[in-house]
Amino acid sequence: MSDFNNDVFRLDGKVAIVTGAGGRGNSIGRAYAIALANAGASVVVADLNGEGAAKVADEITAAGGKAVAVQVDITDSDSATAMAAKARETFGGIDILVNNAALMVEITDKPLIQTDRARFDKGMAVNVWGAVNCAQVVAPFMAERGGGAIVNQVSAGAFPSQSFYGVTKIALVGVTTALATEMGAMNIRVNAIGPGMTKSDAGLSLTPDDSPLVQFVEAKCPIQGRDTPDALCGALLLLVSEAGRWMTGQTLNVDGGWVMRN
Ligand SMILES: NC(=O)c1ccc[n+]([C@@H]2O[C@H](COP(=O)([O-])OP(=O)(O)OC[C@H]3O[C@@H](n4cnc5c(N)ncnc54)[C@H](O)[C@@H]3O)[C@@H](O)[C@H]2O)c1
Repeated sequence: MSDFNNDVFRLDGKVAIVTGAGGRGNSIGRAYAIALANAGASVVVADLNGEGAAKVADEITAAGGKAVAVQVDITDSDSATAMAAKARETFGGIDILVNNAALMVEITDKPLIQTDRARFDKGMAVNVWGAVNCAQVVAPFMAERGGGAIVNQVSAGAFPSQSFYGVTKIALVGVTTALATEMGAMNIRVNAIGPGMTKSDAGLSLTPDDSPLVQFVEAKCPIQGRDTPDALCGALLLLVSEAGRWMTGQTLNVDGGWVMRN
């Protein structure tokens, strides 16, 4: 008989930061924050949009969970440091970081060949440096607690990259394996989730259900139909909990099989 028990997915006593959790209404970050709170974690709901973050934190506390909102710019070291300080001051430390904030809608309206230096730098600063910056800032807090787990939000659109957005996300896959290599000694695991075309408000505005790209992608997916942000939360709980204790440097593709490009 195995000693495995489903309680290893629980996060009671853990403190999690989710970046990009307070933006557009039905966002993936919001779903992640709620899922982590439902699993017992205290959650720092962080976003450039402070009002949006407060709304999600209020939603969690109204349902009996533990959450606090923080306005943060993940590209700024002082701002990320203040976010970590708030986590420790409110909940006593940091165990989990979900690097979910990114520019997506903002950088997908032009092909890479027409992307100028300013847009390129901005996209890389938020989608790649932002995750590295937050990881650097939380590392000592996690080490203080004996380790931790980081999850970077990449995208099925990175395999292979067919846009500037995809370039930023495949770079984040590289960040994931590099940090996993470097942070193992601190008992910090670093993994990634690669969602398919998810029905967040941002995703639906970018690619409505009836758009040709959605039809094309769906035709290639063994599991038909787009799914909602909640469909990504099982992978998140696996990667940040004791259940995933032997996993690091991995990307879990949660996309109906799109990554296989059938
Ligand atoms: N929706 C999809 O289909 C899909 C698919 C694959 C991957 N993703 C990824 O999932 C994540 C969430 O996507 P979403 O659909 O919920 O989009 P979203 O636009 O609602 O979420 C992104 C959030 O990041 C925040 N943000 C942007 N710049 C920031 C900064 N400098 N500092 C702090 N926060 C900042 C925004 O305010 C926003 O709330 C993103 O990383 C996105 O690239 C989405």
